[in-house]
Amino acid sequence: MEHEVRNVTATYNVWWYNIMIKALNITFEYIRRDENENVIEIITALDGVDLNVKKGQFISVVGHNGSGKSTLAKHINALLVPGEGTVHVKGMDTKDESNILDIRQSVGMIFQNPDNQIVAGVVEEDVAFGPENMGVPSKELRKRVDESLKTVGMYEYKDSSPDRLSGGQKQLVAIAGVLAMKPECIILDEATAMLDPGGRKDVLEAVKKLNREENITVILITHHMEETIDSDIIFVMKNGRIVLSGTPAEVYKKSDIIRECGLEVPQAVHIAEGLRKRGLRLPEDILTMDELSEAVRTAYNKQT
Ligand SMILES: Nc1ncnc2c1ncn2[C@@H]1O[C@H](COP(=O)(O)OP(=O)(O)O)[C@@H](O)[C@H]1O
Ligand SMILES: [Mg+2]
Repeated sequence: MEHEVRNVTATYNVWWYNIMIKALNITFEYIRRDENENVIEIITALDGVDLNVKKGQFISVVGHNGSGKSTLAKHINALLVPGEGTVHVKGMDTKDESNILDIRQSVGMIFQNPDNQIVAGVVEEDVAFGPENMGVPSKELRKRVDESLKTVGMYEYKDSSPDRLSGGQKQLVAIAGVLAMKPECIILDEATAMLDPGGRKDVLEAVKKLNREENITVILITHHMEETIDSDIIFVMKNGRIVLSGTPAEVYKKSDIIRECGLEVPQAVHIAEGLRKRGLRLPEDILTMDELSEAVRTAYNKQT
């Protein structure tokens, strides 16, 4: 009997070893009630969503406003639990209260508005806030704060007031604050939406570096399609469902579905489509402007 139990545990461990997130058929409803607690509206925000994310992957989630992206993100961080279905983070069921601290430490969230995420009057204190609350001892805390600020390129601002920083710099500080908690996964919920193009680029670069160099799993929720081009997998959401998923080349080939979801394809994909319609023979997997110009040059040389 004991032998059998041990076997079950071993299988379980192998099952989640390489898996960061496994959401199975999750459904979530927001229920609005009037002052007498009568239900006045039920909004199905998630409707049978499956999501598999392996450790170290860079995932993008795109979808029109109201498609359920933030609701999904909150499920991964155990801020919400599914009405139906299950979410496991590193094999831990988000419905099990005893897992919540561990899950929140493993999955850090960055939200849209940089100003709502700053809690202290000095940058380094802000970064220290999370890990300090986790009970990280002071020497280790110092080390983590310095390292995190260096990683996002904000170390020289450690004594500054966050008020003096740009939106992009505030988001980098927020990312450092999450990093100081040593997460394995970071979710950015439209964290670049309020930034200017420079700030957006800085934040995206920082996140890509974390993924590449620290093997941190990244879930990037965004409206800017250009940001998704280097993802391992893109998930496209519509009305609480994932309607399309795959590598960027696979997903952007189905530009008609993307447009039905109220989204745009990346610029290079759009231009390549137009050129193909005019008879230029271009490969199917063009995603960036560099790839496009190279392909156009090759196609042109072949034609002449
Ligand atoms: N706190 C809430 N109460 C009621 N409805 C909500 C709440 N948050 C989101 N919703 C609704 O759930 C649906 C999905 O919202 P959300 O997950 O925020 O989508 P997205 O992040 O893609 O814009 C929308 O119809 C939205 O109006
Ligand atoms: Mg949202």
